[in-house]
Amino acid sequence: MSEKAIRTPIPSGGVGWYSFDEREVEAATAVLRNPEKLWRYHPDSVSSKFEAELEAKTGFKHALFVNSGTSALACALTALNVGPGDEVIVQAYTYIATASACLEVGAVPVIAEIDESLALDPADVERKITPHTKAIIVTHMQGVPGCLDDLRAVAKKHGVYLVEDACQAVGSKYKGKYTGMDSDGCAWSLNYYKVITCGEGGVFLTNDDRGSVRAYYQSDPAGRMWETGMENVAPDVHVFTRACYRANEVSAAIARVQLEKLDDILARTRRLKKTLLGALNEPIHYRRQHVDDPEGDCGISFAMIVKRQEDVEPFKEALAAQGLNLDSAFSAFPDRHIYAYWDSIMNKVGGSEKNYPWNDPKYQGNVEYSRDMCPQSLDILTRSLRLGITLAMSEQNMLEIAEAINRADAALG
Ligand SMILES: Cc1ncc(COP(=O)(O)O)c(C=O)c1O
Repeated sequence: MSEKAIRTPIPSGGVGWYSFDEREVEAATAVLRNPEKLWRYHPDSVSSKFEAELEAKTGFKHALFVNSGTSALACALTALNVGPGDEVIVQAYTYIATASACLEVGAVPVIAEIDESLALDPADVERKITPHTKAIIVTHMQGVPGCLDDLRAVAKKHGVYLVEDACQAVGSKYKGKYTGMDSDGCAWSLNYYKVITCGEGGVFLTNDDRGSVRAYYQSDPAGRMWETGMENVAPDVHVFTRACYRANEVSAAIARVQLEKLDDILARTRRLKKTLLGALNEPIHYRRQHVDDPEGDCGISFAMIVKRQEDVEPFKEALAAQGLNLDSAFSAFPDRHIYAYWDSIMNKVGGSEKNYPWNDPKYQGNVEYSRDMCPQSLDILTRSLRLGITLAMSEQNMLEIAEAINRADAALG
């Protein structure tokens, strides 16, 4: 029997944390040596420096560093005045936090199909729009931006906002600009599993002055009282008090170092993915995930969508015979990224007994959920085989993985 295609062990590991070195340790330690500066509101604020650096790097007018990507999404929605009575369209394949951010601001999530981009299907979004729809959130899963031109066209046609959940796609671009730039707000996550990480953290990015002030009030209950001067950015925004998503200075210090590494990290993951793609034969039994703008893809994942449901298991077995074990994107309960497993949402269980916000008198819609409500997404996810690409991997890994895929595809006949 011939040797397996995978001869070099495929290392596991995260993307961002794999690039950790003494620089992150020193940056965090420097903050800890000045405990009186652990609080973000002082002239030397590390969080403020991080935000300024984010703005300079991305070109967004405003960056707000908060404690999580979920908080950043809630900021994005509040920035647009999305709240009770409103529906927000989210995709069937995204981390549950995209939907929970809607609930956090009192809006009702409506779940729409994905297509072979593994992000929102613009055609289904159009079907799901009702008079109550105020915003759409597209999630760029595993570093791959969704079909933004089409989604922006739908949003524009129906007069609704488009928010981008780039929590898994930090640093992704679309047509040469950072994702979110031509939409109505964008969220990044800097949690442990992300492209860059500070353990826990998130960033809300916007070009809208008023939205940035509203997001700031959403993120700090005493926002107006810290004399940050935020109110001067848009003096007509009324002051309100909401949640506390205030960021931590130690996290900001780590995040600044990671931001400096972002280009190098992405250059490496993109190069690895290019090597893989370049070594793949023309597929027979699968299609590659549709990537609308390959240049903007973070390069941290590769997905094959097997053409026929009945070929999925034989293809997985043929890959395993080559030493490559890939799972379908449809994993067993409780996958956090598939709507059918979002029990609390499927059952409309709110944080209070009254099933808020579905029963809010302001909500005049009638959204219903069921575990089989997005059959197209479930079908695509069961046929999608995914590979994570991390900094721990090598060019040799990519070549061997491509060889395994080519051999398995050919073996299927
Ligand atoms: C697509 C997506 N959206 C939102 C989030 C929320 O980010 P965080 O965990 O930082 O709140 C995540 C995090 O895993 C995510 O993957």
